[in-house]
Amino acid sequence: MKRGALLLVLLVAALIAGCSDRLEGKHGEELYRVGCAQCHGADLTGGLGPPIDAGSNADIGLSDEQVVDVIRVGPGAMPGFDRRLTEEQIESLVVYLRVRHGR
Ligand code: HEC
Repeated sequence: MKRGALLLVLLVAALIAGCSDRLEGKHGEELYRVGCAQCHGADLTGGLGPPIDAGSNADIGLSDEQVVDVIRVGPGAMPGFDRRLTEEQIESLVVYLRVRHGR
């Protein structure tokens, strides 16, 4: 049992490490798909996280700067991406979202 728990911890650690590696060097759509879609849905209509598609609060309620802050800080149950993404990557996500919002 103890050994199983240790293996589980190692597995989770490897998954987390793997996740951050998977984000490296990615931008825009690809970055969204790997880092955000599991919670906000491939079509942005939400799931674990709220919808962030056209017409949602993320579209009409939040400025670009506020979306950047959300991604950096990670409100509530959302993880913050400050350490995992460069400024440029975060900006590429905002551009991606705005394009999907039809702007
Ligand atoms: C582990 C799940 C999870 C991941 C991964 C995740 N989010 Fe979130 N996100 C959430 C949750 C939950 C909230 C709502 C937080 C709150 O306000 O309580 C949220 C909120 C947001 C909001 C604000 C929505 C609003 O109406 O205020 C935006 C924008 C957003 N996320 C974008 C992203 C982007 C871009 C990524 C990828 C870098 C991402 N999220 C990754 C779960 C996640």
